[in-house]
Amino acid sequence: MAISAKRRMLMGVNQVLSLAGVELIRKDKEFQDYIPLKKTLADAEQAGMPLGDYIDMRFNVPGTTQKTIDKMAELDVFSGKVDRVCEIGPGSGRYLAKIVELCKPSYYEIYETSKDWREWLAQKYGVVSQNTDGASLSSTPSQSLDLVHTHKVLYGNPIITIGRYLLEMARVVKDGGYAVFDLVTEDCLTDELLDKWISSGVDHAHSMTSKQYAIDFFARRGFQYLGGFIVPMEPGVTEYFVFKKQA
Ligand SMILES: C[S@@+](CC[C@H](N)C(=O)[O-])C[C@H]1O[C@@H](n2cnc3c(N)ncnc32)[C@H](O)[C@@H]1O
Repeated sequence: MAISAKRRMLMGVNQVLSLAGVELIRKDKEFQDYIPLKKTLADAEQAGMPLGDYIDMRFNVPGTTQKTIDKMAELDVFSGKVDRVCEIGPGSGRYLAKIVELCKPSYYEIYETSKDWREWLAQKYGVVSQNTDGASLSSTPSQSLDLVHTHKVLYGNPIITIGRYLLEMARVVKDGGYAVFDLVTEDCLTDELLDKWISSGVDHAHSMTSKQYAIDFFARRGFQYLGGFIVPMEPGVTEYFVFKKQA
């Protein structure tokens, strides 16, 4: 699709503003809504479950969040001190809560397009909620983090947004740090899984990215592929990648 006149105008204005070190970003209402905050909190309470467990149970397969953390641990992500962390699209914070408890980082920042959830997370966990343009980590210095991670966010974005976030993740990790993310890859779109997506009527998977593309992309930027794993993402699955930045 061609760049809209509005977007072209924004880019032009930003070129001028960048001389002063500032930029205009899109308003929240242009981003897709995430699940409603108040209702989700109330539903979890009524179910008598911690929020993350409730979301696993209601929208996915119970235990998937913990399984993901366990797999990250198996691939060495938590073997050293994880002190400075960035998460893209934490939503309810179900991964954030576990990583904060496990690693006790001194700094944890989020880029989340849902205003309600990011404000709630900042208040509940004391994390830094960065201005979010939906495609960059523009407030984060290069090579400044021990871990950048995102879960079930990229596949719901267009391919160029995925490319921009992959570039940004590679930029912000320091030597010895980790980048962890999931993508809907070719292994997640077998005929059987594609049928499941189609028959579910759910249409929030917007992109497929090839596994080798992701591995080569990070290899070119000095990252070693430590491994990956596939977890449920109803109605299908998603493939995780764990990379370590080489010194
Ligand atoms: C499917 S939810 C996953 C939430 C959370 N990571 C989890 O797995 O529980 C996608 C989340 O990413 C946010 N999001 C979607 N696109 C985004 C983008 N381009 N940049 C930052 N956040 C985004 C949504 O608001 C939502 O919180």
